[in-house]
Amino acid sequence: MHAGQGTHLTGWRRGLRWPLPALLCWAGAWTAWAGLQAAGMPAGWAAALALAGNSAASAWMRPRWRGLIVALGWPLSLALLTPDTQLPAWGWLLLLLTLAGLYPLRAWHDAPWFPTPAGALTGLAALTPWRAGVAAPRILDAGCGQGAGLTALRGEYPGAQLVGIEWSRWLCWLCAWRCRWAEVRRADLWAGSWAGYDLVYLFQRPESLPRALAKAGREMPPGSWLASLEFAHPERPADAVLQGPGRRPVWLYRCGAAPSRASTAAARRKRPT
Ligand SMILES: C[S@@+](CC[C@H](N)C(=O)[O-])C[C@H]1O[C@@H](n2cnc3c(N)ncnc32)[C@H](O)[C@@H]1O
Repeated sequence: MHAGQGTHLTGWRRGLRWPLPALLCWAGAWTAWAGLQAAGMPAGWAAALALAGNSAASAWMRPRWRGLIVALGWPLSLALLTPDTQLPAWGWLLLLLTLAGLYPLRAWHDAPWFPTPAGALTGLAALTPWRAGVAAPRILDAGCGQGAGLTALRGEYPGAQLVGIEWSRWLCWLCAWRCRWAEVRRADLWAGSWAGYDLVYLFQRPESLPRALAKAGREMPPGSWLASLEFAHPERPADAVLQGPGRRPVWLYRCGAAPSRASTAAARRKRPT
């Protein structure tokens, strides 16, 4: 479990199960917005004050991606539900820039910034033996977001050289800052070669898998691995699957291997809350 994933929170923050904290913050912001207007404040100013309160509350959230959801969720709902609200122009600009920075156009074909859940990769190393001669494997998180996948990979493969590629500039900065032990750069995951990697990890969309497996087959050395959290290739059977009650499967494809029937490994750990 990486820093800030929730288990070490204290007091009331620990007691509230996600997404309850988000719902409470948004309910608070709506109440403030309506209450301030009822007290005679112009709608734009009421919105700006409620936005400030919601943002302040979001700074308390751990892990930080939850804070981000809380911070962005309320202005988004305000924009959708009350399009005639006179939010100041800078408010809209800020919102737009934040969204564009987090989820830039090119990333729309693949998944947005949803992170690998804590514990999702536990047990992976036992299923991915390296090909002969690999001492320090190179592992790529293709679309590394804010670094949750890289952190999980580091826990599972200590000593591996970890690389993260991310298209969103903001997430790339955040990831590089959080994962200083990894090589993180801003790039399109489809553009560069995967030739130098022993394992490529993906947490994208179901549609990404056929393209990823074709790329891996063309570029990665025989005996290397493509691992996909949650989404399997629609036709090619996986060579192994890491799965267990209450957790998302990790589908494993060995490059250069004849497709085999999936072997499975049951997770011994329960999915953390
Ligand atoms: C579901 S998130 C997974 C994040 C991370 N791999 C993890 O598991 O914690 C998918 C990430 O891929 C990024 N992404 C989507 N398309 C991309 C592309 N073409 N090139 C690089 N990154 C991309 C998104 O911005 C997002 O951060």
